[in-house]
Amino acid sequence: MLVGLLREEALGERRVALVPAGVAAFKKAKVEIVIEQGAGVESGYSDSAYQDAGAEIASAADIVKRADVLVGVRPPKVSLRSGQVSVAIYDPLSAPAEVPAASGATIFSLDLIPRTTRAQAMDVLSSQSNLAGYLGVLLGATELTKILPMMTTAAGTLPPAKILILGAGVAGLQAIATARRLGAVVSAYDVRSAVKEQIESLGARFVELPIDAGDSQTSGGYAKAMGEEFYARQRQLLGDVLSEMDMVVTTALVPGMKAPILVTQAMAERMHPGSVIVDLAAERGGNCELTQPGETIIHNGVKILGPLNLSSKLATHASLLFSKNVVTFVLNMVKDGAIEMNMEDPIVTGSMVAKGGEIVHPAVREKLGLGSAS
Ligand code: NAI
Repeated sequence: MLVGLLREEALGERRVALVPAGVAAFKKAKVEIVIEQGAGVESGYSDSAYQDAGAEIASAADIVKRADVLVGVRPPKVSLRSGQVSVAIYDPLSAPAEVPAASGATIFSLDLIPRTTRAQAMDVLSSQSNLAGYLGVLLGATELTKILPMMTTAAGTLPPAKILILGAGVAGLQAIATARRLGAVVSAYDVRSAVKEQIESLGARFVELPIDAGDSQTSGGYAKAMGEEFYARQRQLLGDVLSEMDMVVTTALVPGMKAPILVTQAMAERMHPGSVIVDLAAERGGNCELTQPGETIIHNGVKILGPLNLSSKLATHASLLFSKNVVTFVLNMVKDGAIEMNMEDPIVTGSMVAKGGEIVHPAVREKLGLGSAS
């Protein structure tokens, strides 16, 4: 069995799906690796490090022709062969029409891996959001004209910054931890009241809004989309909390949908000049009405950051974790050095988007307006 790794072609993508440590793990399982020259350079992994781990270096065309499995961060921009396996973040719930099902390749999308305990080591959404949550706070801190920790000096005492985290999933919890480490006074809010304990265990205050979020969590642990009435009431109540903050970090997502607006223009206008909003949901349109994805804007003295693909900026560590996720995922389908897809395994079926020339994932089929798979 041969696993191929191509250079990422998407603009601004610095991560790589497999690092040399991952090559070694594959080799141990009797899986051979071929990589395109320079595949890991942008994330700090040299060709020689891959070779030392036992990988072969070949041209992209050769890899596409020979590899049984192609692993990537983003979908490869090459024509896949029928029967070839492609593993990457296809984001098929947002871009279902871009999945090249007609190629006949078997396509796995890493962002669809179920959130189960067994799948934790394969979960790229978690490994990457965690880093985004960390960096989001650091970016916000450098834009703030205040310091985060309380500081007592001969010239006077500076109070700690007040930071609010909206959405306490993986990114939000890491944002809380990072802001706390830097000495800020942190509060956080989430529609899923189940996270209250986690927020408090990190030393932050859970903001309780007097609205009924009802059954806000899916069986997979994700937030459900709420009604417009809920969002309107939420915005109204959050407005007061926001007006006292130095920094707000928003991370709220609902899978497969545009991010909910939690911070309206009016709410941002109630924040004091010099305060900062870091919108980590910018990629999905943003949680703040004023966010310009990929830009930093200033509105009435409030800085609003809409950073994209933050984990890619931490490419060395992001790739290390991504690679561990990919290796664990692929090896879950390898037996005696050959690929064996167990169609009884919810990790395999839950992440398989296309096979045999058609889209097989029910939620993706639904997005495309297709009936049940044949
Ligand atoms: P996410 O990235 O989809 O969303 C981020 C956060 O925003 C979530 O906590 C969500 O509840 C919150 N949110 C959505 N709409 C909101 C609104 N209107 N107002 C406030 N907050 C809102 O979620 P993420 O970070 O991927 O994880 C969600 C949960 O999934 C985790 O906390 C955990 O329970 C579970 N999980 C399980 C894993 C496993 O067992 N393998 C791995 C990772 C997560």
